[in-house]
Amino acid sequence: MFIRNAWYVAAWADEIGEAPLPRRICNEPIVLYRDAQNRVSALLDMCCHRGAPLHMGKVVEQGLQCGYHGLIFDRSGACVSVPGQDRILPRTQVRSFPVVEQDAFVWIWMGDPAKADPAQIVPWPYHNDQTNWPHRHTMYPIKAAAMLMVDNLMDLTHLGYVHTSTIGGNPSQHVEAKMETERTPLGLKFTRWMLNSVAPPTYVKAVGFQGRIDRCQRFEFVAPGSVLQWTGAAEVGTYRDGDTSDSKLQFRLFHGLTPETETSCFYFWSSANGFRQDDPTATQQLFDQVGAAFLEDKAVVEAQQARLAELGEGGLVDIVTDAARLHMRRTAQRLLAEEQPPQAFAAA
Ligand code: FES
Ligand SMILES: [Fe+2]
Repeated sequence: MFIRNAWYVAAWADEIGEAPLPRRICNEPIVLYRDAQNRVSALLDMCCHRGAPLHMGKVVEQGLQCGYHGLIFDRSGACVSVPGQDRILPRTQVRSFPVVEQDAFVWIWMGDPAKADPAQIVPWPYHNDQTNWPHRHTMYPIKAAAMLMVDNLMDLTHLGYVHTSTIGGNPSQHVEAKMETERTPLGLKFTRWMLNSVAPPTYVKAVGFQGRIDRCQRFEFVAPGSVLQWTGAAEVGTYRDGDTSDSKLQFRLFHGLTPETETSCFYFWSSANGFRQDDPTATQQLFDQVGAAFLEDKAVVEAQQARLAELGEGGLVDIVTDAARLHMRRTAQRLLAEEQPPQAFAAA
């Protein structure tokens, strides 16, 4: 089951060019395309004539043309042209999904279109600010449930075990990190302080730290699948009073987890360089290092998914450092429950 009345990242805006892009989201086959006016649209990827996938067609002046017998659909999903036929029956249409292009993303609403409010989309203006936050972005397909990836981001004690060669540091610092947590209507925010700690290899590469450093990470989870991250570091002693304005290293990461099926998802992520903004190699290096770390997450979470599928979740136990993760899960459960019709709940 998926939360449907919510905005998900469907694609990076630059993924959608002239060719229609097929993508399964919340287990529904979707086709994304850009029309002649440069507007992105999303339709169910199945022609209402004989069921051919619409992504096999092409974009024409009036909309998206099915590649089988040439029906054309506009962005509302209405058929606007049937070859060899003047009158078009009103039910000659396919389902359309609300989409919004914003901050280099294409967001999609998978639920009741009447409830789709673009004001609820998570803003990430840094993607438009190449001067202060030059960034790079990509998408990793993950063979695991989206929620397992969000779990991964909510419990950063894994950094000291999974990411020792990149963004890690040593395990005890992560376990002992001081956490400040704040609940929000759609999730939670937390800050982790790791003062007087070992500089991870990525940080040393980025700004040449020598010796120990103060580290701070601020995370926000916004249901159902966005995790916003700011990370900073400075010479040891700088963060003593809780002030991070004098960071030597800072970067922002956006994590967008979108379900493909119950057991697979898309990991849209970006890294924005806030420390050597006029140096493109620094932006690239950060992206490469973060990308390498996320492949480490992908490997462990995909293996976890395979084991859970095989043996189930029955015997799993929670530990103290799961607190943020558990709150995240409760928020997601609440939103899911709010969407279910009462009779479906009673039946369950
Ligand atoms: S299946 Fe699409 S036009 Fe026939
Ligand atoms: Fe990780």
